[in-house]
Amino acid sequence: MPDSTQPAHTVPVNLGPRSYRVDVGSGLLKTLGAVANEKFGNRANCVVITDSNVGPLYAEAALESLRVAGKRPVLITVPAGEASKSLLTAQTVCSEMARVGMDRKSFAIALGGGVIGDLGGFCASIYQRGIPYIQVPTTVLSQVDSSVGGKTGVNLPDAKNMVGNFHQPAHVLADVDTLASLHKREWNEGFAEIIKHACIRDASMLPLIDQVAAGGGDLASLIRWNIAIKAAVVEEDEFETLGVRALLNFGHTLGHAIEASAGYGTLLHGEAISLGLRAAALLSVELSTLSVGDAERIVELLRHFDLPVQLSADFETEELLRIARMDKKFEQGKIRFVLLSALGSAHVSHDVTEEHFREVIALMREPV
Ligand SMILES: NC(=O)c1ccc[n+]([C@@H]2O[C@H](COP(=O)([O-])OP(=O)(O)OC[C@H]3O[C@@H](n4cnc5c(N)ncnc54)[C@H](O)[C@@H]3O)[C@@H](O)[C@H]2O)c1
Repeated sequence: MPDSTQPAHTVPVNLGPRSYRVDVGSGLLKTLGAVANEKFGNRANCVVITDSNVGPLYAEAALESLRVAGKRPVLITVPAGEASKSLLTAQTVCSEMARVGMDRKSFAIALGGGVIGDLGGFCASIYQRGIPYIQVPTTVLSQVDSSVGGKTGVNLPDAKNMVGNFHQPAHVLADVDTLASLHKREWNEGFAEIIKHACIRDASMLPLIDQVAAGGGDLASLIRWNIAIKAAVVEEDEFETLGVRALLNFGHTLGHAIEASAGYGTLLHGEAISLGLRAAALLSVELSTLSVGDAERIVELLRHFDLPVQLSADFETEELLRIARMDKKFEQGKIRFVLLSALGSAHVSHDVTEEHFREVIALMREPV
């Protein structure tokens, strides 16, 4: 039988002893068992952590590939949605791992979007003080961003990603075929992070984003390009201590506050980030050298993907500020805020004050 698996394009993530590969391509899910053998040898016990939407679509293919490779996988399914990125769900997953007999020689597979990647990676990082895991991202956002870089964690009720660990995966398998089953809204939200990558690192990506928005363009190439950007940033600053990885937070300070204020699951993560990106673009015009035209270009790109750019009256300014103050980017009362000096060029600024936040929130309420 001919093998329909297209040769994978691999992006290396060079982190010394924690280095790994990201395979990007079509038909890769069926290679999961072979990858597990390559990474974990004859270790057989493993869990596949997934959610209630992804499980029915792709769990059987993942389990079958692992079984054929001689593994003994157990499936753990959590409810789909951001609310599952919680300490309570992490406890449920870890309890289930213990119940089915996972030990320190076991490994985990995180099969799903960013929620499952963050939650599954977090569980792998704490279970018996850490077991290895493979990321199998199934959303645009998780393929281009969250599956690479080893940030894992869960939310507190009104603070995003407040509890977590750095725990690099042993491998990432980004099968672009899985993206075909995404609903339009989930498809679109992933482009907020792609637009963010172009804004902070490489404006030459914008024409390809335009092409994909118009229904053309090579999606796999766009995804590889973004993974390469994420990998390069992580390689430069794995533990976010040098101010390079912090640039990936462009649009995220207000975006996270908006997401938490709406209540997890009301706005999708990428939708909240879209609002945060516009706010950060407006502040970049006011406090840095971004041109008005380039800020408008960012808004135009977001709108191509039906992403929100106007803040609704439901969000109270002081509530957003209260939540933003809890953000890890607030250090001793000062905000580390990422601004653009031009499209493709970002820097961390300490000039943004709470008054600037109030002003930009007011601007964000005006029709675009
Ligand atoms: N760790 C990091 O570096 C990092 C970076 C960016 C974002 N994140 C996190 O990622 C999360 C958002 O990720 P997301 O947007 O992928 O959300 P998600 O995991 O909730 O997925 C979105 C929805 O799509 C469904 N879904 C997933 N794959 C599917 C498929 N192939 N077909 C059909 N439906 C599918 C899910 O069940 C869910 O309902 C947030 O929690 C965010 O904080 C983490």
